[in-house]
Amino acid sequence: LFAGPVAFLKSAPALHFLPDPVVPEVAFAGRSNVGKSSLLNALANRNGLARTSNTPGRTQELNFFDVGEPLRLRLVDMPGYGFAKAPKDMVKKWRFLVNDYLRGRAVLKRALVLIDSRHGIKDVDRDVMKMLDEAAVSYRLVLTKIDKIKASELVAVTERTVAEARKHVAAHPEILATSSETGFGMAELRAAVLESVL
Ligand code: GTP
Ligand code: MG
Repeated sequence: LFAGPVAFLKSAPALHFLPDPVVPEVAFAGRSNVGKSSLLNALANRNGLARTSNTPGRTQELNFFDVGEPLRLRLVDMPGYGFAKAPKDMVKKWRFLVNDYLRGRAVLKRALVLIDSRHGIKDVDRDVMKMLDEAAVSYRLVLTKIDKIKASELVAVTERTVAEARKHVAAHPEILATSSETGFGMAELRAAVLESVL
């Protein structure tokens, strides 16, 4: 499926701009700067498809990408949460947009909740996980940027993250470790995305 083109469809700055819910969607969620847009690009094998930046708060809308010809699924790149330095009203706007989408989207098959492997799970991540548990949206925890840590650190953060995942009803019991930089874990991530829309 990912051998074909992945094409930008549209940007939704608010819920009433969402595309018609006609195919399954898989959403990329996580704290600002965790690497959501980069991971989507790595998955699609196309640099620059979703816009990335060193500055947190790059993605400010829900961005939809069509996968498959004929159309089989949509990937959704989301604004990050937990970005303390952004203006308060913007943070609030993003939070409502992300939460409302995650809670209320009938075609949302799975969320990927990205966790920076250097930092592990934070309270804001737990809040989002709890919300997904309550909304019965299944999700998978994905460690990002593992090229930035040592093998021993990866073992430790993996153990902690798996332990946390097992406390949440809607979380997949296994986590994925990835690097958009080296491509590590991309085959597993593709398989997880495809499995969720079969
Ligand atoms: P927002 O849209 O602001 O919420 O951020 P985001 O989660 O989409 O993060 P983005 O993909 O823009 O990446 C943030 C920064 O991390 C960029 O400078 C990326 O180049 C870098 N980055 C992302 N993934 C990786 C990775 O796997 N390894 C390394 N070394 N850097 C990464
Ligand atoms: Mg982004």
